Amino acid sequence: MKAIYPYSLDTVREREYGLPRFEVWQAISSTNDRARELAVEGSPRGSLVLGWEQTEGRGRHGSLWFSAAGDGVWMSLVLGANDVTTHLPILVGISCAEVIEEMAGVIVSIKWPNDLIINGRKVGGVLVEMGDGWVVAGIGINVRRSPSESLQAFDDRALPATSIAEHSDRISENPDFAGHFAQRILERLDARKGRDGVVDSFSTRDILRDRQVHTDELGIGIARGIDECGMLLLELEDGAIVKVRSGSVRAITSSEEEE
Ligand code: BTN
Repeated sequence: MKAIYPYSLDTVREREYGLPRFEVWQAISSTNDRARELAVEGSPRGSLVLGWEQTEGRGRHGSLWFSAAGDGVWMSLVLGANDVTTHLPILVGISCAEVIEEMAGVIVSIKWPNDLIINGRKVGGVLVEMGDGWVVAGIGINVRRSPSESLQAFDDRALPATSIAEHSDRISENPDFAGHFAQRILERLDARKGRDGVVDSFSTRDILRDRQVHTDELGIGIARGIDECGMLLLELEDGAIVKVRSGSVRAITSSEEEE
């Protein structure tokens, strides 16, 4: 039987960040699952679920997402059907990168589509999920500590992990980071300029640009930024540009090139 944990409603932060609902769980299986439940029950767009700990946090491509108690922001935001575009996952990543930079004063890059990177290490990621009548943006950011060694043990090609605290001493409370992330995502989605600016904002943060990469979908090529739909542009050996829709992508290191 699944454990049932209590949650509270943070009405002060609901008002502060202009959100219709701000749920805070001591522990929860996955905030994405709870946000989906809320969306299906009719909870309005902008409803936010924050967990101090997740017992079954998940990442992209079916990976586990380490979500130890208090170490980071594990949150999910209910969105609406009108928010769904092919570049939604990128818009969410850009919004979080901007907020981390403003709140913690560190430069945040992005590895397509939405791995958030500080100094070549992964500080967070985004998992957008949707189904019949629901859309949820899940965000995981290592604020105080990162699970670096254990992640590395799973996949020696995974990016090493980091936390905001390794690079900054301007560390806000988790619910405040979460409120700001939610607010920025909704603002960007509501502003036409916010949507139009996705390609430009992405290109200033793109750590793969002009690097040789391996893509699951289309093999090896040179990353040449994204198109207006958020797809990765990949230049093949014969100069043709093809579009990568999904799957994992990683930069090829110089030692691999020599192999
Ligand atoms: C990635 O693989 O980079 C995406 C990680 C997304 C993790 C977040 S934590 C909050 C939300 N709930 C989950 O189970 N996953 C997302």
